[in-house]
Amino acid sequence: MADERPILMFDSGVGGLSVLAPTRALLPQASYIYVADNGGFPYGIRSEGEIAARVPALLGRLVERHHPRLVVIACNTASTIALAAVRAALDLPVVGTVPAIKPAAEQSHSRAIGVLGTDATVRQPYVDDLSARFAADCIVLRHGSARLVELAEAKLRGEAAGLDAYREVLSGLLDQPEGNRIDTVVLACTHFPLVADELAAAAPRQLSFVDGGPGIARRVAHLTDGQDWPETASGEAVFTAPVEIGDALRAALIERGLGRISIL
Ligand code: DGL
Repeated sequence: MADERPILMFDSGVGGLSVLAPTRALLPQASYIYVADNGGFPYGIRSEGEIAARVPALLGRLVERHHPRLVVIACNTASTIALAAVRAALDLPVVGTVPAIKPAAEQSHSRAIGVLGTDATVRQPYVDDLSARFAADCIVLRHGSARLVELAEAKLRGEAAGLDAYREVLSGLLDQPEGNRIDTVVLACTHFPLVADELAAAAPRQLSFVDGGPGIARRVAHLTDGQDWPETASGEAVFTAPVEIGDALRAALIERGLGRISIL
C-alpha cells in the first residue's frame, strides 16, 4: 500500500536545501515539502524568545496542513533553540540540525576547530555542550555571520558576489587568537554548505569544511526504514510570505526536486 505522507523540511530560507539534497539522494522515493519561513527570515539575528515562540507554532500549523511522516528542522538556529519544544509539541519524529562538532573533532589534526554559524547559534549553550562532549581536547573558536546567510540567499537568486565578501567572513574566524591553528571549519548554519566552494576558494589556506547534511540524511533513512512510499514522489516548496521567484531560484528549487511552489 502506498503511503503518501511527505517528509517536511523546514528552514528560515533556502539553507535547508543543503539538507534536502543529501536526503533526496538517499531517499528519492519520498515526497518532500520544503518550507522556507521567509516571513521570519533571518533567524540568526533574532532573540531566543522570538525563535522559541515562532518555530513550534509554525511547525504545528504546517504539520496539520501537510500530515508529514517526519519533520526535519533543517536549521541550526531553530534546532539549537527550539528542538525540545518542537518535539514536545508534535506527535511525530522530529530530526534537528545541530553543529557538526563531533565529526569535525574526529578529523581535525591540529585540534583547533572553527564553528561558523549565525550569531544566535554560536552563542547557544548547546554549542558549549557539544564542544565539551565531543571536542574537549580541541580549541573551538566561533564566529557568527548574518552576511554569509545573505550571500547564500543571493547566490541562489543568481546574484554572485566576489570572493572578498567571503574572505571577510572567514577572517572573523581565522583572525581570532589561535585562529591560525584551525584546520577544520564546522558549517553550523544550513545556508553555508551552499557557498562551500566560495569559502574554499576564499580561504587563505586549505581548510576542511564539515556540515550536518549527510548525517541527517542517514538519520532520516534510518527512521523511515521499512516504511511504504508514495506511488509517485513529489516535491513542493512552501514560502510563509509572498516572495518573488526569479528564474535562478526557480531553477535551484527544480534542481532539488521542488517543482511546485506555494505560499502558506
Ligand atoms: N539556515 C539557518 C541556520 O541553519 C539560519 C539562517 C538565518 O535565518 O539566519 O542556522
